Amino acid sequence: MSAVLEARGLQRRYGGATLALAGADLVVERGQFVALVGTSGSGKSTLLQLLGCLDRPDAGTLHIDGEDVSRLSDDALARVRNRRIGFVFQSFHLLPRLRADENVALPLRYAHVPEATRLERARELLERVGLGHRTHHLPGELSGGQCQRVAIARALVADPPLLLADEPTGNLDSTSGREILELFTTLHAEGRTIVMVTHDPHVASFADRRVHLEDGHIVRET
Ligand SMILES: Nc1ncnc2c1ncn2[C@@H]1O[C@H](COP(=O)(O)OP(=O)(O)OP(=O)(O)O)[C@@H](O)[C@H]1O
Ligand SMILES: [Mg+2]
Repeated sequence: MSAVLEARGLQRRYGGATLALAGADLVVERGQFVALVGTSGSGKSTLLQLLGCLDRPDAGTLHIDGEDVSRLSDDALARVRNRRIGFVFQSFHLLPRLRADENVALPLRYAHVPEATRLERARELLERVGLGHRTHHLPGELSGGQCQRVAIARALVADPPLLLADEPTGNLDSTSGREILELFTTLHAEGRTIVMVTHDPHVASFADRRVHLEDGHIVRET
C-alpha cells in the first residue's frame, strides 16, 4: 500500500530571492497524525499549501495516494483537492450566507451528489462533530469553536483520505481549542490521516510525529 503523501525535494520561492521552502522531503503513511511545527515564517503554511495542492512547487515531486500530482493541469488538480483532501483553516472559511448543513454539503455538490443526499450526509457529519442541534444556523449565529466544527464536518463530508489543518485552534479560546483537539484525536483514533500546522508545542503534543521547520528547511523530527 502506498503512502498517503510522499513529497520529495519540494521547493517554493515567492518572487524574491529567498526560498520559503528549500527542498522538503516528507512521507506520511496512512493513519498518521503529523504536526508541522516551527516559528513564524519558517515555511509551515507554504508546505501545507503545497501538500494540499492549493499551490504548486517550483521544484520537487508530490504523490498523493500513489498518484503523481506534480504535473497535473489546474482542472485535474482541483479534482484531486476535491476528492482526496479535506482542509481546515484557522479562520474557518465558511460561507456566511449558507446554513451549517449547506456549508458542510458544499464539497458534495462538486462531486454531483443529489441535493437531498448531500444535506442528509451533511447532517450526519454535523451530528458526529456534536452539532446535530445547530444544522440550520448561519455561521454568524455560531461560536468560533462551533464554526470550526462545521469546517471539520465539511472537510470530512466527501470522505477524503487526507485531512490538512493550518492552526485549527489559532482563533479559539482554550476550551474550544481543547474540544477541537479532542475531535482530531478521535478522528486519528478512527484511522484518519491528519497533517496539522501549529506553532504551539501543546497542540503539537497531540500528534504522533512532529516535523520541525526552520527557515524553509525540515531540520528534525520528534
Ligand atoms: N504569498 C506570499 N508572497 C511572498 N512571500 C510569502 C508569501 N507567503 C509566505 N511568504 C514568505 O515565505 C516564508 C514562509 O512563510 P509561511 O507562511 O509558510 O510561514 P509560516 O511558518 O506558516 O508562518 P506563520 O506561523 O506566521 O503562519 C516567510 O518568509 C513569508 O514571508
Ligand atoms: Mg502559517
